[in-house]
Amino acid sequence: MCRIVNFNINGCNYKLPIVGGTYYEKAINISKLRENTGFITFDPGFKNTGIVKSSISFIDGEKGILLYRGYPIEQIIKKCSFIETSYLLLNGELPNTAQLKSFSERIKEFNSINKDIHQILDKSPVFYHPMEMLSSLTCILTAFITKKDGLKEKDMYIHLLAKLPILAALTYRKKIGLPPSTSDKNLYYTSNILKMFFSVPKKYYKNDPIITDALDKLLILHADHEQNCSTTTVRLLGSAHTGLFASVSAGISALWGRLHGGANQAVIEMLENILKCGGNIRKWVERAKNKKDPFRLMGFGHRIYKNFDPRAKIVKEVAENIISELEIDDPILELAKELEEIAIQDPYFMEKKLYPNIDFYSGIIYQAIGIPKEMFTVMFALGRLPGWMAHWKEVRLNREPIGRPRQIYIGYKKRNID
Ligand code: ACO
Repeated sequence: MCRIVNFNINGCNYKLPIVGGTYYEKAINISKLRENTGFITFDPGFKNTGIVKSSISFIDGEKGILLYRGYPIEQIIKKCSFIETSYLLLNGELPNTAQLKSFSERIKEFNSINKDIHQILDKSPVFYHPMEMLSSLTCILTAFITKKDGLKEKDMYIHLLAKLPILAALTYRKKIGLPPSTSDKNLYYTSNILKMFFSVPKKYYKNDPIITDALDKLLILHADHEQNCSTTTVRLLGSAHTGLFASVSAGISALWGRLHGGANQAVIEMLENILKCGGNIRKWVERAKNKKDPFRLMGFGHRIYKNFDPRAKIVKEVAENIISELEIDDPILELAKELEEIAIQDPYFMEKKLYPNIDFYSGIIYQAIGIPKEMFTVMFALGRLPGWMAHWKEVRLNREPIGRPRQIYIGYKKRNID
């Protein structure tokens, strides 16, 4: 591969170095472009801009490959738990038995929450969206934990892994008028999440391995996805030396958007609406193609994947499995499969390389587990947490400069107030 590109602006020749990675991704390093030429680059949505050299995850969008620290997602899903995956993302290697035991035990050590946080929830109006509450409570953990206890950096990651599920469960239970639940140190991480969500005074949620396994797999599939919108948000905050909890809180808010993680809620709402309106799938596919119509097929399309999303393949299998294991008759799953069949054969979707993404089937699993729609993106956030933290850590370890793009100003020229 050549190491330099030559280019010409206004008759002057310039040389720009090429940056390469482990695979074939290559970039033109333009960090000195403005200094040397007076030009900046223009790339709305960062569609063609690399902002970092990272060693956490790798995606080949054309071939449908996703690696966490070098391991294919298909192997991780078969051989690792969510806690092992979190360790891998945060530390770079899979844990040995002793490391895993100590990591899991430390998470359990921190799994309680300051009682004043309950009061914040008690004073909040119940019509909040769980994502806004989760983001706020995550941010305020800074006051309750970091400042109070003078927390060491390595403990912050453990604290957040322990605390986010507690905050998620509290947020959910408060909203539907249930008392707070306590976490159970004897349970595995994901079983404990389910227990905290669903145990009510009289009815203890049974620790069903089929449900735990399905949720664990979803958490793993969401755990990291290189420079997506929420992770880049977390990285940007990290680059300004904002603390971990506040940075993750911003990541949660970014994830909430319906074009990003919020799509999982939007997909089920769309499918329910299609069903309610008579189930004429072709009509909705036509609407999605019509540029004058704001309707889009939620759960379809991806900035990076242009062949298939490997996570979507796995999620579809998990969804089919859990629906059949739990003997649920779900017309939404059938509708989703039909919609996928029709859309992927449609010339518009083929030409634009639009395929189902991870969010297309994930909501069906959450629904089968009994998680309400408004909590879907919260579950995504629980899964994405180790990825966000690994990226925040990488920014700090690499001593990356503060993220600060430029702009092309198109407003008024200088003018005076009369
Ligand atoms: N339905 C119909 N048309 C679509 C869809 C869709 N879901 N997605 C993209 N297109 C079309 C666009 O209209 C555009 O057409 P044009 O070239 O004629 O203007 C073309 O495909 C390219 O789409 P962009 O929006 O430019 O692609 P971008 O990479 O910016 O956006 C995104 C990707 C946001 C995921 C988009 O595909 C989308 O809105 N999908 C639906 C929401 C969704 O499922 N989001 C979850 C993504 S996965 C995740 O974040 C966890």
